[in-house]
Amino acid sequence: MKLLIVNGPNLNLLGKREPGIYGNVSFEDFLVELKNEYPSHAIDYFQSNIEGEIIDKIHEVGFEIDGIIINAGAYTHTSLAIADAISAISSPVIEVHISNVHQREEVRHYSFLSPVCKGVIAGFGLDSYRLAIEAFREIR
Ligand code: DQA
Repeated sequence: MKLLIVNGPNLNLLGKREPGIYGNVSFEDFLVELKNEYPSHAIDYFQSNIEGEIIDKIHEVGFEIDGIIINAGAYTHTSLAIADAISAISSPVIEVHISNVHQREEVRHYSFLSPVCKGVIAGFGLDSYRLAIEAFREIR
């Protein structure tokens, strides 16, 4: 399978950012582990703090790839534009969150993306991404 992980704003700071919520492992280090764990899958990674760049990336790969795993960060709760991009493509998308957004402030409870994603995984730390890969392996 060819998969793309898309991380949105502030997720470039994983490992340093609010470690009590997001842990102390950088995404780059985690990605090495993930790729080792799934050597038969091509796992690409893209991170941007810019909404339009995330949309461009979804358009670029969204008609050819087997799946997208997206953690849109705070854009999850604000971006109709990213939701429209997900609706526009044919590749399935799984929404992930490191934290359990439903245990946090009310503003984080609503997701523009959930209605247009295949499913949602939240609250398992960085393991949320691994569980999304497992989900793609199940549904393919
Ligand atoms: C997050 C949760 C969002 O509410 C927050 O804005 C993030 C990270 C998570 O992975 O838990 O940036 O998506």
